[in-house]
Amino acid sequence: MSETYDVPPRVRAGSRSPIQSLADWRAAWLAARDDPDATWLRETTSRLAWQKAPSRGLEGSFHDIAEAPIRWFSDGELNITESCLDRHLATRGDKIAIPWEGDEPGAGGQLSYRELHQEVCRAAGALRAMGVQKGERVIIYMGMVPEAAIAMLACARLGAVHSVVFGGFSAEALRDRVRDCDASVVITQDQGVRGGRPIPLKATCDEALEGERGVTAVLVFQRTGADVGWVDGRDVWWHDCVPTAEPVTEAVVCAAEDPLFILYTSGSTGRPKGVVHTCGGYLTWASYTHEVVFDLREDDVYACVADVGWITGHTYIVYGPLCNGATTLMFESTPLYPDAGRYWDLVARHRVSIFYTAPTAIRALAAQGDDFVTRYDLSSLRVLGTVGEPINPDAWRWYREVVGAGRCTIVDTWWQTETGGIAITPIAPATPVRPGSATLPNPAIVPVLMDDQGRPIVGPGEGRLCLAQPWPGMARTVWGDHPRYVSTYFSTFPGFYFTGDGCRRDGDGYHWITGRVDDVLNVSGHRMGTAEFEAVLVGVDSIAEAAVVGFPHALKGQGVYAYLVLQPDADITEPEALHAAANAACRQQIGAHARIDLVQLVPGLPKTRSGKVMRRILRKVAEGQPDQLGDVSTLADPSVVASIVAGARSLS
Ligand code: PRX
Repeated sequence: MSETYDVPPRVRAGSRSPIQSLADWRAAWLAARDDPDATWLRETTSRLAWQKAPSRGLEGSFHDIAEAPIRWFSDGELNITESCLDRHLATRGDKIAIPWEGDEPGAGGQLSYRELHQEVCRAAGALRAMGVQKGERVIIYMGMVPEAAIAMLACARLGAVHSVVFGGFSAEALRDRVRDCDASVVITQDQGVRGGRPIPLKATCDEALEGERGVTAVLVFQRTGADVGWVDGRDVWWHDCVPTAEPVTEAVVCAAEDPLFILYTSGSTGRPKGVVHTCGGYLTWASYTHEVVFDLREDDVYACVADVGWITGHTYIVYGPLCNGATTLMFESTPLYPDAGRYWDLVARHRVSIFYTAPTAIRALAAQGDDFVTRYDLSSLRVLGTVGEPINPDAWRWYREVVGAGRCTIVDTWWQTETGGIAITPIAPATPVRPGSATLPNPAIVPVLMDDQGRPIVGPGEGRLCLAQPWPGMARTVWGDHPRYVSTYFSTFPGFYFTGDGCRRDGDGYHWITGRVDDVLNVSGHRMGTAEFEAVLVGVDSIAEAAVVGFPHALKGQGVYAYLVLQPDADITEPEALHAAANAACRQQIGAHARIDLVQLVPGLPKTRSGKVMRRILRKVAEGQPDQLGDVSTLADPSVVASIVAGARSLS
């Protein structure tokens, strides 16, 4: 049994949260499970500025999801930017909505709610002048500048559907997304800046759009002033058209179930899927979870240092905080620039009270020593959040003791692009915490652990994590491919949403996420499919076959291990040369974050007689457990296993 930490008095003091204790949590959780309609109609009408308040709660079920997507609040009408901006103007017009910290320490600026509202209305006007209409798709390919949030909200103001593509993705990955959602406009910037280095966003965008007729306009925000390529008639500078645009003061009215955004994410098979979130349910969930989990207060300075290119940036930098009228910091740089004290310098200067980051950053910073932390005044901190991967107890303790000085609580929040918002988590003022445990489900989340036979496990145990009931923030479909949504999430355990994660539940009902049980990798919190790597690798000269698996990595959580079979006539025989070629191809076709750590040349892959690669064997070898391969007698050629084991690579 792991140690338990009670909520420190500083975290409880002054809290006005309706959930102050485990008893409160249990009552709220049972109410939401047993009467979801009443719970969420009440929450949504009190949280969102509806044009027409909904009278319907939940429609549909996981049993007939193939025929009809889940719907929440379907007769309601709203524009989500009114909830995030307009309705704050009377009471919070001068409150800082977005403090922005640029790449260089201390550089940046800030926007009040009034200023943010004006900017969004003007940017929406500029997009409207470019012809953007309700329902149309707009790709946003930007770095961490306030204009990225403005661009998202400007799309929403018009009822257009945004799809933010992380600025680290390559031209090919960007093109795939532009095509998949049939986008007509792209918003980008001349360059991004991170850690003192420029990121050629416009150049990558130009490469992606070469020959793409569907994109009629590219709106370019100037960040660095670098020389960039220009396509006359297509490209427009932000500063030329946004400041003078006719502001869209009347937001376009949307139905609750109209799509708000598409976000591409990796799965076990095939190309990344465009996960679709809709207006009413998503924003309700973003607002509820952000306020309740972090115990948000009016004077909090909240900093989530994720990137808007991922779901964490959508829900917990932009939509949740702005809906709640919070001050939500945007950070352009990295935790290590100019040194490992950057986050804590940021916290000290901005007096941040809620800080939200990923285990991979915590591990990297802990490895640099405590001095980088203790030299700053971090007394403003109250709640420390983590998300994206399992956090090892040592990193957790360092976060609590060194960063939080024992005065803050840690919320280890488990969720996914598909869940829209935090699903299993401590609630800051209420939940005693244990290092490495995401603890308890939020109201609306009903976790079920399935055993190998697909039977729910009762009481303590370990199995595959499913969710049994719909919640307002869940993804509704995969863009253009509802059957793929159904088969990905609802076919493994019919009637249940399958998360792809393994999970252990202890005797107190606390949840311990053990990581993905499918073929999805989580490298430094970046989610990537092994199939995506393999598709790239088999296109590299000299490589005939490839199989990619993850292995435990001290800093990144997981590393990427590639088994490669050479073409018979291959002229590369040195693994190092092939490794470099493989990484160059991954960078070009996926992005800079897709790097293979270890390459092993093998004479063949371990396949069953029907030709299926036995990935279990490859995983065990990569994990350094060649003595636990289990039964290999069903392999077509068991002899390959010995040579795979003999040639295994490791980082040490
Ligand atoms: O494996 C889980 C892991 O991240 C996956 C979801 O990745 P993505 O959709 O990119 O969203 C990341 C940010 C919400 C999950 O299936 N994961 C996320 N949070 C945690 C986690 N694993 C363990 N503990 C967490 N707190």
